[in-house]
Amino acid sequence: VKHVDVLVVGGGHGGAQVAIALRQRKFQGSIAIVGDEPHLPYERPPLSKEYLSGEKPFERILIRPPMFWAERQIDMLLGNRVIAVDPVRHYVRLGSGEAIKYSKLVWAAGGIARQLNCAGHDLEGVHVIRSRADVDSMLRGMECANRVIIVGGGYIGLEAAAALSKCNKKITVVESQDRVLARVAGEPLSRFYEAEHCAHGVDIRLSTGVDCIKGSNGRVVGVQISTGEYVPAELVIVGIGIIPAIEPLRQAGASGDNGVDVDAGCRTNLPGIFAIGDCAAHVSGFAGDTVVRLESVQNATDQAMIVARQLTGEPAVYDAVPWFWSNQYNLRLQTVGLSSGHDQAVLRGHVEERRFSIVYLRRGQVIALDCINSTKDYVEGRALVTRKSVLKASELADSSVSLKSLAERVPIQL
Ligand code: NAI
Repeated sequence: VKHVDVLVVGGGHGGAQVAIALRQRKFQGSIAIVGDEPHLPYERPPLSKEYLSGEKPFERILIRPPMFWAERQIDMLLGNRVIAVDPVRHYVRLGSGEAIKYSKLVWAAGGIARQLNCAGHDLEGVHVIRSRADVDSMLRGMECANRVIIVGGGYIGLEAAAALSKCNKKITVVESQDRVLARVAGEPLSRFYEAEHCAHGVDIRLSTGVDCIKGSNGRVVGVQISTGEYVPAELVIVGIGIIPAIEPLRQAGASGDNGVDVDAGCRTNLPGIFAIGDCAAHVSGFAGDTVVRLESVQNATDQAMIVARQLTGEPAVYDAVPWFWSNQYNLRLQTVGLSSGHDQAVLRGHVEERRFSIVYLRRGQVIALDCINSTKDYVEGRALVTRKSVLKASELADSSVSLKSLAERVPIQL
């Protein structure tokens, strides 16, 4: 049986970064990445943006040039998946039947796109956006599609709407909650994005679900929505969240109700097994010390660094501030901190100029900012979040006063 010192499961942002960081830190042992996609690690965010709209070819979204991995002796086991983990004898079994023994295992398998479970969910022309293959197969049917229905008004749905409206498609977004981006943003931001999409001709239906998808000759022709209406479409994009890809780990005895639980060092309860990225649930000081599972590039790459540091003999604790971005039309959203649980949302700047920030407070403390076309606020606001600054809404609302000067004024809270 083949033996690998560090076996990484998943070749996304997190998995790739573990291997990159280990070599940067002069780790001498063997490293292998098992990835179920046939491709070298690539960036996922452009899939719902520039890759979808055709502005960036695949080569430009690779995380490293193809030669990088071989040069650093990082063994790429692509087109293969781990189907079982034996945490006692320290080996995994691959879909191909092969077994690999490991010294340390890093689970970075991310998530799989949730599917609808209504009738017609598997018709041709119904797509998710999670992998290059998803987008490629969608693009193949794109020319004949004039009407697109997007199920889910999260980042995937809204970014896809923005990218496809550039291609002159008629787009309807069906969102089950009463506002878009409800999972990740405060209400004022949701309302702003709804208005922006509306101004670009996107029809957003809130508090609306999908009853069934109708087809003809195996291909989608429309969607029956919960208002009783039938909306014709040649293409349906489903962006209703992800399910953490953790089944083999769970079978092996990993704990966790929402993903896999990890400690501040990204260790699971299983010996020698770490978990990072979209599938790892951890206690976050930025969420009032509650358990969160963050789905972001920042979280995946920062947790990867924590694991790499520990595997090269340096103790490390994950306490990075969460950040996030989204591009839609000519709006650049940058988020720092976690806004859920806020009791106040303060507007800074001018919505009509499409350049503003929303500062989220909980009991007077700045916990997050959503910044639209306001990179300065984003950069300076980060200090307010990391220092847990307590400020008055009226001070924050005054955009003639920089956040930097506010950050310098308040004492650091420990
Ligand atoms: P999401 O969880 O962010 O949003 C899903 C949306 O679908 C929610 O608004 C939810 O209320 C709605 N929904 C759920 N079930 C529904 C149903 N049956 N009918 C209608 N609406 C329904 O997940 P999303 O947008 O699919 O994104 C998946 C992952 O990709 C997330 O981890 C996200 O953070 C990530 N992503 C990140 C981006 C970025 O970095 N800017 C861009 C796109 C996605």
